[in-house]
Amino acid sequence: MSSPVNAAAGTPAAAGTTGPYQAAAGLADVSVSSTKVSDVLGRLGFYHYRGYNAVDIARRGNFEDAWYLMLHGNLPTPQQRAAFAAEVAGLREVPGGVADLLPAIARLSGPGSLESLRTALSLTAQAIGCRPWGDQTPEQTLGQAIRLSAVMPTLAAGLYRLASGQEVVPPRTDLGYAASYLYMITGAEPDERATYAVERYLMLTIDHGFNNSTFAARVIASSGADLGAVLTGALGALSGPLHGGAPARVFDMLDAIGTLDNAEPWLRHAIEHGDKLMGFGHRIYKTLDPRSELLHEVAQELHSDRVAFSEHVEKTAVALLAELKPGRDLYANVEFYAGVVLEAADLPREMFTPTFACSRIVGWVANVLEQIQDNRIFRPLAKYVGPDAPRELPAFWQPAEH
Ligand code: ACO
Repeated sequence: MSSPVNAAAGTPAAAGTTGPYQAAAGLADVSVSSTKVSDVLGRLGFYHYRGYNAVDIARRGNFEDAWYLMLHGNLPTPQQRAAFAAEVAGLREVPGGVADLLPAIARLSGPGSLESLRTALSLTAQAIGCRPWGDQTPEQTLGQAIRLSAVMPTLAAGLYRLASGQEVVPPRTDLGYAASYLYMITGAEPDERATYAVERYLMLTIDHGFNNSTFAARVIASSGADLGAVLTGALGALSGPLHGGAPARVFDMLDAIGTLDNAEPWLRHAIEHGDKLMGFGHRIYKTLDPRSELLHEVAQELHSDRVAFSEHVEKTAVALLAELKPGRDLYANVEFYAGVVLEAADLPREMFTPTFACSRIVGWVANVLEQIQDNRIFRPLAKYVGPDAPRELPAFWQPAEH
């Protein structure tokens, strides 16, 4: 595998001797920064958080361990684990001024709305006093970053309940991040197996190299903007169907296929008509996404009715993609089994992407804190391909009178 181009290091072209370096569409195979946070080794089907196998951490730890690791670069000792878990559990409440506004925000869209969530997140950042990070101390930025991560599940669950005509259920400090989230959505004591499943999902999706929303977060942070702007922008990027907006669409696809016999003709027709199969393909992975592998196992443990059907669809899709899109190496990505796991844990379909946001915010924050330690504003170039300049002004155009 050829190594990626390092845009910052500068080839002779990047240095300006033969014109600017032209990156591939979508910045494919271009390294735009250095990071110690996480990495994805696509050909090996491996990714890590700060050097530790992320799947291993997800199998053996809890969400707060992974969160601590992302923030501090090391796994916590038992004392640090207990102190950190207590600290973040105490930060789950929505600030008063924002809590009062949630019913009005929830009324604007349906349950699980990403638009409502980003509005509430932005307001929360304002309410806790986020300012351009250069105008406050690093300790203030870190404190706000942890607070916003801790409050995200409360916002997501509260908006969901309000938009579906139910009372808000306040967070519990005696429960972990995942269990408290489930409790706030259902209002019932969280089931152990469901909590285990949701926690595995959350841990697996904390960070993943320079994915679209993480890059967006770093770009916005690089201008010196406040954390509210950064995280709201990242959440907007996550909501898109090519990124975090895929899992509910995977379910729409499974519903549309409907029966085992219909999988082959339905999928063949979709690929032949140029549709993207939701939950398949990845910019970096050219093998099975390791997140999908663990989620598949978790789905099997939950004995979800969907598993056998999903497995059949996955097998059929991978075979058809190999036949109709040879050489593209298209396999199931994290989103394919994510929905199966989350549904089996009783999360409503419209909450799949908001749930993803509850874990990815921890990754965004780790990246932003790294970005601002050694910041240079992101300001690339674009190759102009419009009409030759300068153009002659058209005769019909009358200059405005001043
Ligand atoms: N179904 C059918 N064909 C596909 C798929 C798919 N899911 N993914 C890629 N391809 C094909 C493309 O049509 C293209 O074929 P071509 O060479 O004939 O034009 C080729 O494979 C390369 O695809 P690109 O879209 O150029 O790949 P890119 O790296 O830009 O996109 C992406 C990656 C966005 C994930 C893409 O595979 C996709 O749209 N997948 C479906 C949506 C999805 O599952 N998103 C969740 C991703 S995981 C996450 O963000 C957390």
